[in-house]
Amino acid sequence: MTIDKSFRIAQVDNRIYGSFIEHLGRAVYGGIYEPGHASADQSGFRNDVKELIQELQVPIIRYPGGNFVSGYNWEDGVGPVAERPKRLELAWRTLENNEVGTNEFITWAKEIGSEVMMAVNLGTRGIDAARNLLEYTNHPGGTYWSDLRRSHGYEQPHQVKTWCLGNEMDGPWQIGHKTAEEYGRLALETAKAMRLVDPEIELVACGSSSANMPTFPEWEAVTLDHTYEAVDYISLHQYYGNRANDTANYLALTLDLDHFIHTVKSTCDYIKAKKRSKKTMHLSFDEWNVWYHSNDADKQIEPWSVAPPQLEDVYNFEDALLVGSMLITFLRHADRVKMACLAQLVNVIAPIMTENGGRAWKQTIYYPYLHASRYGRGVSLQPIVDSPVYDSKDFTDVPYLDSAVVYNEAEEEITIFAVNRHLEQSLELTCDVRSFEGFKLVEFIVMEHEDLKAVNTADEEKVKPHHRGQAKLDSGMLTASLAKASWNVIRLK
Ligand code: AHR
Repeated sequence: MTIDKSFRIAQVDNRIYGSFIEHLGRAVYGGIYEPGHASADQSGFRNDVKELIQELQVPIIRYPGGNFVSGYNWEDGVGPVAERPKRLELAWRTLENNEVGTNEFITWAKEIGSEVMMAVNLGTRGIDAARNLLEYTNHPGGTYWSDLRRSHGYEQPHQVKTWCLGNEMDGPWQIGHKTAEEYGRLALETAKAMRLVDPEIELVACGSSSANMPTFPEWEAVTLDHTYEAVDYISLHQYYGNRANDTANYLALTLDLDHFIHTVKSTCDYIKAKKRSKKTMHLSFDEWNVWYHSNDADKQIEPWSVAPPQLEDVYNFEDALLVGSMLITFLRHADRVKMACLAQLVNVIAPIMTENGGRAWKQTIYYPYLHASRYGRGVSLQPIVDSPVYDSKDFTDVPYLDSAVVYNEAEEEITIFAVNRHLEQSLELTCDVRSFEGFKLVEFIVMEHEDLKAVNTADEEKVKPHHRGQAKLDSGMLTASLAKASWNVIRLK
């Protein structure tokens, strides 16, 4: 590997370390919020969970969905809690009691140092509900909706900057699913009205629910044909799983992710050319993760219960490697991917798990996310890499070494993130860092485990980082031994 100060991809937008809380399963109720819990604050939010989130330094959190938002009446979640209606929640077929809503969530997010990426309902609702919600959250006062907020005890506007125009509107499962034409028109008109309410906001149009959708990438082309000048980002969503228990192929899935990002970029640039536009569309990868472990369990859940344990994937060590590789992929696309949300944050396909009334703990995937969020801030540099490769079931020429490099100019610090995809052998990394004169090795963080299927529980944290890796820096040449199947973070200063 060779890295050089001048091989700049782009400044990393810290919002690529965002996450997501949906009204789904135990994400809100029993996750971030549990009034009876020993660690609950005065508003009922769990302090033990807050601490684990704060460690991650999550810059932005998407809310309130997800599929949930496409049937949500935001008015149900504001005002006196005792007067809020209980509703059938159709996306996940549960009961929503609306104890937590817009004001509580935004207040909680501010407290933990996160911005909110708010989604509006373009499934069962449309322009009117969206512009009213925006007036409620962002307008200072003197109008019906802003004064209603003030009467609810929130004198100051929340100033929510980032808004998603619906969620996965291409998906037939979505309440109010639309064709690209229908969605493109509605998204444009909603964007226009919302910008009239508050010209400072940023808007995200729905891209495809995954690269596997039959309408991908035509969906993006049609949607952007309508909305190109009215929105700032197009969304991407992707979940992976190792259903065939083929780890070599599973760890190669970031080649698919890379291809997905390239295709969306190209589609955006095609519309840019078609419209003779000067504007470059950015990407918001606002749902990504591993999601498959809980699929069968979810089929057993009784409908219409309150906060059942839905989508509670228990992540193993190989999942942490893939999550690390996905973060590496976003860093290498720092020029276009400006936001990304690990879906989700607590209990629901999440790095943080809780027991109702009990403990909170870190899943395996918590760690690569933590390391990237902490040390992946700065300029993403393009490493020049010469790695041996392998073929897997679906991919050819998969580099064993997957890597990204971030140069934090303010702190004069470089971090190399690297996954060794080789399942049997270590990789001996040699890295030319001569352009960083005087830098010293400060830390080498390693995650490895003999058992690719090892998991963490409330009782035992089997998978966690250590500092026993072998690395040295001599006359501008860094050498490190990257253990077989490992996540590595090498920090120089
Ligand atoms: O994150 C879980 C679900 O995945 C979201 O509600 C939906 O947008 C996606 O299909």
